[in-house]
Amino acid sequence: MAILVAQDIIKQYKQYDRVITAVNQVSFEIEEGEYIAVMGPSGSGKSTLIQICAGLDKPNAGHVWLRGQDLTAMNQDELCRYRGKMVGFVFQEHRLVPYYTALENILLPLTAAGRDLEQYRERLRKLVDILGLSDRLNHLPSELSGGQQQKVSIARALIHYPQVLFADEPTGNLDKAASLDVLGMMLGLKKELKQTLVIVTHDPDVAGKADRVFLMDNGVLTPKYS
Ligand SMILES: Nc1ncnc2c1ncn2[C@@H]1O[C@H](COP(=O)(O)OP(=O)(O)OP(=O)(O)O)[C@@H](O)[C@H]1O
Ligand SMILES: [Mg+2]
Repeated sequence: MAILVAQDIIKQYKQYDRVITAVNQVSFEIEEGEYIAVMGPSGSGKSTLIQICAGLDKPNAGHVWLRGQDLTAMNQDELCRYRGKMVGFVFQEHRLVPYYTALENILLPLTAAGRDLEQYRERLRKLVDILGLSDRLNHLPSELSGGQQQKVSIARALIHYPQVLFADEPTGNLDKAASLDVLGMMLGLKKELKQTLVIVTHDPDVAGKADRVFLMDNGVLTPKYS
């Protein structure tokens, strides 16, 4: 069974008397362990689509099932709890807490939900190892490079074993070397942890490694099988 199913998603924004259709009747299925790259021009609806799939935003119509549960039928409280358990999200501008160390930032989804940190010790060790962050854990975000901050935000998105990792242009602010580094690490996660990945990217090298590329154009999605 597919891990993520989207059916006939429509998202419209009203601005005065104008209606903008950001996502226009989009449907797809993603299998467990797949790496999907989402590409397309600026304003084509990529961020809107993945935020709906991650339960961060509600569509006007359509459904999203993650592991068989319909996100669009949940209220805000249920969604919040569900996201904390099932979804990891990496924002383009990483959104780390500036006065928390790297370690405190990574553990935030657990501390915020009052989870027992002891149970996540091995997970933390593995993520820190794969991401090469072991000697940076006590640093503040301001003491880290852009690439390291992005890795901290990826570890934070993954610490609670999310079913799907969504990342919105995770390499957008990085130079080529750092970008390939982050990509290599994501592919390591896919291989070692069978992590399902949905990554919005403008970078053909990042998309080139995907199992499938979804091309968004003016709110409409075309699957391009690579
Ligand atoms: N909160 C909002 N209110 C009104 N319009 C919005 C809002 N968010 C997005 N839009 C519009 O929806 C469309 C899709 O935006 P979206 O951010 O999803 O595009 P994108 O493909 O992620 O673009 P980019 O590559 O520049 O990040 C755009 O026309 C945008 O102006
Ligand atoms: Mg965007």
